[in-house]
Amino acid sequence: MNLITQPKNPLRGSVVLPGDKSISHRAALFAALAYGESCIQNFLLSGVTHVMLAALKSLGVNYQINGNTLIIQGCGLQSFQTPAGALNCGNSATTLRLLAGALVGSGRAVILDGSPGLRRRPMDRIVAPLREMGASIQSQNGCAPIEILPSTLPLKGIGYTLPVASAQVKTCLLLAALNADSPTTIIEPEFSRDHSERMLRSMGVEVTGEIITAADGRQMFQTVLTQPDHPLALKPLNIKIPGDFSAAAFLIVAALITPDSNITIRQVGLNSTRTGLLDVLIDMGATILISNQSTRNGEPVGDIIVKHSRLRGVQVAGEQIVRMIDEFPAFAAAAAFAEGASVVHDAGELRNKESDRISVLCEEMRRLGVDIVEHTDGFEIKGDARITGGLADAHGDHRLAMSLSLIGMASRQPVTVSGAEIISESFPEFSQTFLDLGGKLVLES
Ligand code: S3P
Repeated sequence: MNLITQPKNPLRGSVVLPGDKSISHRAALFAALAYGESCIQNFLLSGVTHVMLAALKSLGVNYQINGNTLIIQGCGLQSFQTPAGALNCGNSATTLRLLAGALVGSGRAVILDGSPGLRRRPMDRIVAPLREMGASIQSQNGCAPIEILPSTLPLKGIGYTLPVASAQVKTCLLLAALNADSPTTIIEPEFSRDHSERMLRSMGVEVTGEIITAADGRQMFQTVLTQPDHPLALKPLNIKIPGDFSAAAFLIVAALITPDSNITIRQVGLNSTRTGLLDVLIDMGATILISNQSTRNGEPVGDIIVKHSRLRGVQVAGEQIVRMIDEFPAFAAAAAFAEGASVVHDAGELRNKESDRISVLCEEMRRLGVDIVEHTDGFEIKGDARITGGLADAHGDHRLAMSLSLIGMASRQPVTVSGAEIISESFPEFSQTFLDLGGKLVLES
């Protein structure tokens, strides 16, 4: 499917976005692990969360979906059934890594597999620490399919330092730690998103987080699950999920680069482990205001007001990377229209996402006329208000597809993105949301 974006249509008005993808994944799985009925409003219904729900169904979990409310009947991990075949995690590394952490404590044999794209992504980062905890788990040369075999329970609590900050790995280990005989300590070089810790706390688990100083003097981030889940039973959830900041990122950048735009995105998640892009855009000269702030179910939310702005180039590196790890494709679209050069370093982890997000981003942005150069650990863009537009391909990466179509909001000619159906993995309402704000996007099969 092609998505064609017609340039120079100002975006105006206000929108509410579907629920946060990370929180939706966690809410579905954690609710299944709890005892009792959970009610989850504003649940993201998209390709990747359907994959999580289908996996839970294969494990014998019952749920209903009413509109965008998910009702889950949680009966605890020990009620899970052995699935008939391999659990298909589709394109979703979050589904695979989180399920692996939960399932190693179940005493059941389960195979976790997924699309060819998912099979390329590194899984040794969960296999090694789970083995240290006593899990019996195999990969295919560090990748999916992942085979979990029954292991001696309870697992062992461990102290583990992640080589690269990762909320998926941290959450995987926290879920395994629920079934361990002693506390588990996870240390990260940067503080990755902490939605799991917040949610587990609301379910009655003791999880602490603090900054520590390592032996070499570096600041590190330590998460400790002090109280494993037996005899404690997780309490069910009754929550409304905030709008997805990573979806909002595309609207924010679109409004910034499209002349005469002025939009409000209401009730978006503003957890500071996720909002690095806001800080970077403000540094670039963006007019962005936050209002109506509150805390909902332990997560900060608020309205984001964005106006078209003249942007200037910026440097992004170090601890900023993890706080905007999913936003580099959107950031690249902003940098493409900024005055001067923007440089990203320390972002090698982008090569392990739904695509190699450094090389593919550079290749496709270049096809649209963006002056972008690839570095091993990032990229450099020389901004230009007069980008041509043209044809580009999504490479099976939802965020790449959306960011390429952003270029078409302000380029001289339209942008056509092929393979755009992949957008429905995380943001099925993408085109409709832009149409509602006055954008001109057409899907053609
Ligand atoms: C996610 C964490 C990030 C992010 C992904 C979702 C999560 O991955 O890129 O889209 O829900 O925990 P890593 O933990 O691998 O950095």
